[in-house]
Amino acid sequence: MRKAYIDAIGMYVPPKIVTNQDLEKIMDTSDQWIRERSGIQERHHVDGECTTDLALKATEEVLEKAGMVAEDIDHIIFSTMASDYFVPGGGPMMTRRLGIPGTPAVDIRMACSGFLYGLSIAKAFIESGAHDNILLITSEVQSVALDFSTEGRDTAVLFGDGAAATVLKATDTDRGLLSVVTHSDGRYAEDLMMRTPSTLDNPLLTHALLDQGHGRVKMNGRSVFKHAITKFPQVIKEALEKAGVEKDQIKLVVPHQANLRITEAVAKRLDLKLHEVVYSNIHKYGNTTSASIPIALYEAMAEGKLHRGDYLVVASFGAGFTWGASVIKW
Ligand code: UT7
Repeated sequence: MRKAYIDAIGMYVPPKIVTNQDLEKIMDTSDQWIRERSGIQERHHVDGECTTDLALKATEEVLEKAGMVAEDIDHIIFSTMASDYFVPGGGPMMTRRLGIPGTPAVDIRMACSGFLYGLSIAKAFIESGAHDNILLITSEVQSVALDFSTEGRDTAVLFGDGAAATVLKATDTDRGLLSVVTHSDGRYAEDLMMRTPSTLDNPLLTHALLDQGHGRVKMNGRSVFKHAITKFPQVIKEALEKAGVEKDQIKLVVPHQANLRITEAVAKRLDLKLHEVVYSNIHKYGNTTSASIPIALYEAMAEGKLHRGDYLVVASFGAGFTWGASVIKW
């Protein structure tokens, strides 16, 4: 049966590194608090670059790795929480930046689950025979929407900027995406949100709304944490069942990098050996939302943690709430 597989991944983070010590200088926080509560030591922030700048660098790398030119891309799936413009989205902008006008592109705004939802769309496109080569871009510029005063410290210290680009192709072998499961639940929308610009207001955007902090990311960290540690194990089990793969067959789990404590709690609940099976690189990048899984996958591959034929699980939880998991035979 025709399946979708991940052929190559490119990544790019902006060069500017912001350490916990840098944050100590601008808000009432401490390196110790951030490390103990999240595992993060530093993150990258843009310094003038926009979302498609990061996306373009990651795409250039993945095209080279996949032995492709931009014209070989059949469809772009673009995931971000903040595109260059409010409208249009990043997908069409990338056709301009890559010089491939006319290429279909779809934008998705599934926050931290953007990679999982992107995989589910790519899988459907490829399995149905509609397309052969999909470019899944996950590019996030979040630092411009964070509140770096002490009031915003619970959120601002966690997030970082970065991008990944993933090429998915068709195969008739037994490798590829065996299952992709996605969920969403809007009852908790306000627990992790950026409210403005919003159609709740007319006009969408005013100085008063910005002055009230509505243009900043707001989070109820405890609620997100509580739901994440329940939904991650549930959805991973669901994806394993759908794929017909046993937990003990898994060689690597790459969860969305939200918080090391969430990763630890999930590993414990699934009874997985944390440092052997579950990958984490949050200490270097913070939470890069939909880019975090492919960036972690990229680094896991570079470290030789994935071999052809291995069973891999990727899983996410984030704003919406949205969550998902996929079982992949590498
Ligand atoms: O992709 C999904 C995205 N989001 C997440 O995954 C976030 C999930 N939630 C979390 O990771 C955690 O809830 C946080 C890391 C956000 C917070 O950890 P916590 O253990 O839940 O801390 P808390 O919210 O209960 O706050 C504990 C204390 C509070 O002070 P008081 O009220 O005990 O005096 C906070 O004001 O820590 C304080 N605090 C900070 N202190 C120093 C909050 N942020 C900071 C900070 N530096 N940056």
